[in-house]
Amino acid sequence: MRLLDGKKLSAQIKEDLRKETQNLKETRGIIPGLAVILVGSDAASELYVQMKAKACDEVGVYSVVHKMPENLKLQDIIDTIKMMNGNPFLDGILIQLPLPKHIYASELLEQIAIEKDVDGFHPHNFGRLFTGLDTFAPCTPLGVMRLLESNGVEIKGLNACVVGASNIVGRPMAALLLNAGATVDICHIFTRDLAEHTKRADLLVVGVGKADLISEDMVKEGAIVVDIGISRIDGKTRGDVAFDKVAPKTSWITPVPGGVGPMTIAMLLANTIKAAKKRKI
Ligand code: GUN
Repeated sequence: MRLLDGKKLSAQIKEDLRKETQNLKETRGIIPGLAVILVGSDAASELYVQMKAKACDEVGVYSVVHKMPENLKLQDIIDTIKMMNGNPFLDGILIQLPLPKHIYASELLEQIAIEKDVDGFHPHNFGRLFTGLDTFAPCTPLGVMRLLESNGVEIKGLNACVVGASNIVGRPMAALLLNAGATVDICHIFTRDLAEHTKRADLLVVGVGKADLISEDMVKEGAIVVDIGISRIDGKTRGDVAFDKVAPKTSWITPVPGGVGPMTIAMLLANTIKAAKKRKI
């Protein structure tokens, strides 16, 4: 068993990105800019947004966090997005999810200019992802791909099983794996026999948010296991995989924390810099 170390890889990626921003500044006078919209006061979201802003700072990306109270009208948020769409110093716009219950994410996500959609959640970019075209791939699944590729995992031909079918993780994860040549099962809340699917997987990717959902009897010997789940149990951060029991069966496995989490932020920075490089100046 070997660890897929996202903490180490993300630090290397951030160092490379810092050099890229330095180069962009010197050669083209560009400082990549990211706007983060936070609606309401969800504690976890506030923490994630702070982490994103700090990471931007570390690699030379300008960031602005736009906090909006929960009781605003939808149109007020749309007006803010439109203003950001027109700001030439902002290359990326991100709406922190989840949103308060009365706001439909899709109504806002569709307002983001497609060339500034660094989360890759606009249906236009989602469609490009599923057709195998160049786009902004959502940061968490993109981070998983980088983590696997950097460790020399050959994805072509693998039987992959993705557990969880969210728009943020499961669906784009399945698209990226399919694009890379894997045969992909997508399991979700209506899947009748989850273990029947997970046991067949050479590559098992789990993003549900339910601690210990995956036990050792559900994992094939020698499988590669990627755990995207995050739960807080008794003050401890836990993934979806019962790590201690499952790890000895695997060829590769991600720890939680220190696996996929740090990769997500690194990919957000990478997508923002990718957008900045396309500035027409
Ligand atoms: N909430 C959980 N993950 C994400 C993400 O990747 N992007 C955004 N915007 N919100 C999230």
